Amino acid sequence: MKDIITLAVESSCDETAVAVLKNGREILSNVINTQIELHKKFGGVVPEVASRKHIENIDAVLEEALTEANITLNDIDHIAVTYGPGLAGALLVGLSHAKALAFTLNKPLVGVNHIEGHVSANYIEHKDLKPPFITLIVSGGHTHLVEVKDYGEYEILGRTRDDASGEAFDKIARAMGLGYPGGPIIDRLAKQGNKNAIDFPRAFLDDGYDFSFSGLKSSALNYLNAKKMKNEEIVVEDVCASFQEAAVDVLSKKAIKAAKEKGYDIIALAGGVASNSALREKITELGKENNIDIKYPPLILCTDNAAMIGCAGYYNFINGRIHDMSLNAVPNLKI
Ligand code: KG4
Ligand code: ZN
Repeated sequence: MKDIITLAVESSCDETAVAVLKNGREILSNVINTQIELHKKFGGVVPEVASRKHIENIDAVLEEALTEANITLNDIDHIAVTYGPGLAGALLVGLSHAKALAFTLNKPLVGVNHIEGHVSANYIEHKDLKPPFITLIVSGGHTHLVEVKDYGEYEILGRTRDDASGEAFDKIARAMGLGYPGGPIIDRLAKQGNKNAIDFPRAFLDDGYDFSFSGLKSSALNYLNAKKMKNEEIVVEDVCASFQEAAVDVLSKKAIKAAKEKGYDIIALAGGVASNSALREKITELGKENNIDIKYPPLILCTDNAAMIGCAGYYNFINGRIHDMSLNAVPNLKI
C-alpha cells in the first residue's frame, strides 16, 4: 500500500508548528516555534501579539518542516490543520495558510480539533495503542475525562466546572511571581518541597467525574495572602509541592475510578499537564494497583505541536472526514 504523507499545521495559541507524518504515526519532522519568551513579560499569552507572530513565523516553520522531512509540497497527500478550540486570530493564521496550500496544490483539507490532537499524541508514541480507552485531557484550557470509543468518536464523562488544571498551575505560579508558564516551574520546585506541608482541599464533587480547581486555587491564594499579611516566610517549594499534590490526587483518582467503573484497562494522558512528573508518577502507581496500563506521550508531544494534529488528521482523512474551503476557525470548538 502507498504511504500516506500528512502535512500538519498548528497555531491555536502561542506555538507556530508544522509537522510531516508518514502513515499517521511516524514523524518525519516536527518543527515548533514557541513564543513563550515573547509572552513571558505579560505573564500570559496576548492574543493580538500571538497572531502577529504566527504570521511572521509560519513560512519559515513550514520550510523547515519540509526540509527536515526531505519532501516537497508535491509529496503531500493531505493537509491537516487545527481549526479550534483556541484564539480566533491565532487559529486563522494557520487555517488560512493551510487552506491556501490545499487550494493551490489541490490536496484534501482536514480540519482537526486541537483537543483530539492532544489525545492522538499517544498514538505516535505507543504504536500498538488503539481505541477503546479512557483519556484524561489536562491542558492550559481544558480538563476532560473522556471515553475514546473509536478514532474520532468520544464520549465525555466529566469536565472541569471552572478553571482548567493547567490554568490553576499558571495562576498559582503567577501569584508567587514564578513566571510563565507556571506548570513546569511548579513541577520543578515541587521536587524540593514537602507535599504534606500544607493541607490544600481536594474537590471530589460527590464522587462524579467532573473536576473543580477554583476551591484549590482560592485556598492557595488565601494561604499566600495570609502569610504575606503576617509577614511570615513562604516556603515556595512546599506550596508548589502541596498544591501540585492536591491537584494530581484528584486527577489521578478520578481517572482510575472512571476506567474501573467503565471497564477499561488503559488510561492515556494528554495535554500540557500530562508532562507533570507527579501526575505521571501518582497515576502510574494507582494504575499498577488496579491493573490499568497508563500511557502518556513524551514531553515534546504533550505541549502544543503539529505532529499530534497530523496524527488526528490522518485518521480523519482515512475515514473520509475532510473539509472544504468554507472551513472556518471555531474558537470554542468542543470535542
Ligand atoms: O496543552 P498545552 O501546551 O496548551 C493548551 O492547549 O492549553 O498546555 C499548556 C499548559 C500550561 O498551563 C502549562 O503550565 C501546563 O500545560 N504544563 C504543566 C507542565 N508542563 C506544562 N503543568 C504542570 N506540570 C508540568 N510539567
Ligand atoms: Zn494544547
